Amino acid sequence: MKATAAVGLLTDIWASIKIALLPTLKELVARPSLFFTPSEISRIFMAKVWAGGFGDGVDEGGRSTKEHLITPNAFGAVLDLGAGHGHTVRYLDHTKVSRYIALEPNTNMHSFIREAASEAGYHESDGSFILLSCGAEETTKILAALDSVQVDTVVSILTLCSVPDPEKTIRNLVRDVLKPGGLFLFYEHVLSHRSDVAWWQRFWTPIWVHAFDGCRLDRPTDIYCADLKVEEDNGGGLRSPWREQELWNKVDEPEEHLFWHQVGKFVKD
Ligand SMILES: C[S@@+](CC[C@H](N)C(=O)[O-])C[C@H]1O[C@@H](n2cnc3c(N)ncnc32)[C@H](O)[C@@H]1O
Repeated sequence: MKATAAVGLLTDIWASIKIALLPTLKELVARPSLFFTPSEISRIFMAKVWAGGFGDGVDEGGRSTKEHLITPNAFGAVLDLGAGHGHTVRYLDHTKVSRYIALEPNTNMHSFIREAASEAGYHESDGSFILLSCGAEETTKILAALDSVQVDTVVSILTLCSVPDPEKTIRNLVRDVLKPGGLFLFYEHVLSHRSDVAWWQRFWTPIWVHAFDGCRLDRPTDIYCADLKVEEDNGGGLRSPWREQELWNKVDEPEEHLFWHQVGKFVKD
């Protein structure tokens, strides 16, 4: 692997420090009690990074992938995992998507999601927009907020890298929250299938995880989705929940990329 590719993310780490360190320190000075909640400090830092240009830059870099994945496929009630600034809502076709449910545990980002949803024509006042502040792993809370009505589409864009126990989270979401016949749309950076790239992803993860609020480079979430198993209805064993599944590379992405992406469309049986 080329040295420039192996250390490429240092520029991102440096850029994030330049954007977010000082404003985060200012918040710490203003609210010293934050010292007792390091996870909240991490969320504040991440929110500053995302608002300081990363959110829009990452969206731009994934635009054509998302136009191909989300716009023609998402339908009905759409659950957007880790909505960030609500970039996903801009890719929804309003004639097919009746409800946008944004799930974002980082409340520092909520005002951006509200604004994006409103611009796209989804509003809390008429029930076409719901904002949940829990994590993707909290399926009981998600279902309670939806009155136990399952969704038609789950979208995961660059989020499963940050979710605790992603394998279990994906299984619970697909089994309990997604309707039969529903879609799971996936665009994530994943553990590279190349061992040299994977070595560098594992090397950087302990540092990166602090700069980007728990984001890990070493997760094979594409494989977790493809090999997913759920219990048989009759309790007789395990089976794939998918009727159809497709996984593909991001177009024109070099294999040596530390943020090596996979794109997927899965249809629940
Ligand atoms: C890299 S950002 C991607 C944001 C958005 N999906 C996009 O494509 O612009 C990852 C997002 O996942 C959120 N996140 C972190 N932990 C999460 C969890 N346990 N469940 C759901 N989202 C989470 C972060 O707050 C952040 O907004």
